Amino acid sequence: MSLPETMRAVEISQPGGPEVLRPCTLPVPVPGHGQILIRVAYAGVNRPDALQRAGAYAPPPGASPLPGLEAAGEVAAIGPGVTRWAVGDRVCALLPGGGYADYAVTPADHALPIPEGLDLREAACLPETCFTVWSNVVLRGGLKAGERFLVHGGSSGIGTTAIQMARALGARVFATAGSAEKCAACEVLGAERAINYRTEDFVAVLKAEGGADVILDMVGGSYIPRNVKALATEGRLVQIAFLEGTKAELNFAEVMMRRLTITGSTLRPQADLAKARYARDLETHVWPMVAFGALRPVIDSEFPLTEAAAAHARLESSGHIGKIVLAL
Ligand SMILES: NC(=O)c1ccc[n+]([C@@H]2O[C@H](COP(=O)([O-])OP(=O)(O)OC[C@H]3O[C@@H](n4cnc5c(N)ncnc54)[C@H](OP(=O)(O)O)[C@@H]3O)[C@@H](O)[C@H]2O)c1
Repeated sequence: MSLPETMRAVEISQPGGPEVLRPCTLPVPVPGHGQILIRVAYAGVNRPDALQRAGAYAPPPGASPLPGLEAAGEVAAIGPGVTRWAVGDRVCALLPGGGYADYAVTPADHALPIPEGLDLREAACLPETCFTVWSNVVLRGGLKAGERFLVHGGSSGIGTTAIQMARALGARVFATAGSAEKCAACEVLGAERAINYRTEDFVAVLKAEGGADVILDMVGGSYIPRNVKALATEGRLVQIAFLEGTKAELNFAEVMMRRLTITGSTLRPQADLAKARYARDLETHVWPMVAFGALRPVIDSEFPLTEAAAAHARLESSGHIGKIVLAL
């Protein structure tokens, strides 16, 4: 595969709204030791991209300043020391940044084969949510078959993945969402009960079921004490974002008396080795769920790269259900 010297990309011209995303031309990156260069066919759009664009989520040291945490395409070049992949292989991958471009580099062991039965467009929507849900719900939260699992933002990219993965693991799944249409989508994906948080109290619903064993929360703020109330004895609350806020007042006696665990994590700043381990776990445990049809990316809409700003506006409208994808 012959490589051009320059590529199309979308950069963050300054912190701000969707309009600060600007098409530009940049040199094609060169893969370093242990890295691959991917010719991007599709790139997933995630809420952390919007946070980065707004100036609230800086890329870790050494990462591309371009937005884009996941992509699918063909391996266009390999760096020294890469043995698993060859030029021409079709992969999807978690990226440290840089997905909004014709070419992106990433550690070779953060790439995965395209799961059986999926095309590149669908596969581009998997890495960010699968790495996040697996590492938080299964590894941190310890969700097991038969347990009750609650995910907030059930119709989000993360939520639609979490519902399906938890269901495939044999958990009983509950989800919250902000409209009847979103709640219906959560139930089609496998939630036995979706709760419209504008009209219903998720604490009451979960308590009537015996409490949640694991809660995956991206809202925070006033949800923090309510989540604690909704947990069963020995329950685990896993925080992955704070859309409402980072602060709350909490009676920690409840944590002690019911032996609760409050934890959380963010994926991007973790060590390459940790992400490589998640990738191997996904290939072993989650890619078969995809191949069996138990987990499918839910795609809300597709935009060309040049309309990345419109993709972000759609994401931030919260009108979407599932994932938004950029076509290169
Ligand atoms: N920790 C990590 O490593 C990690 C990795 C990836 C993503 N995340 C976080 O996980 C969350 C979901 O990501 P995503 O890409 O799946 O996002 P997304 O598709 O944009 O979903 C966010 C959803 O949250 C719901 N929501 C609930 N309360 C909200 C509030 N106060 N403000 C705005 N939205 C609210 C909205 O749906 P309703 O209409 O139902 O309110 C919205 O659709 C984001 O907060 C993201 O930053 C964390």
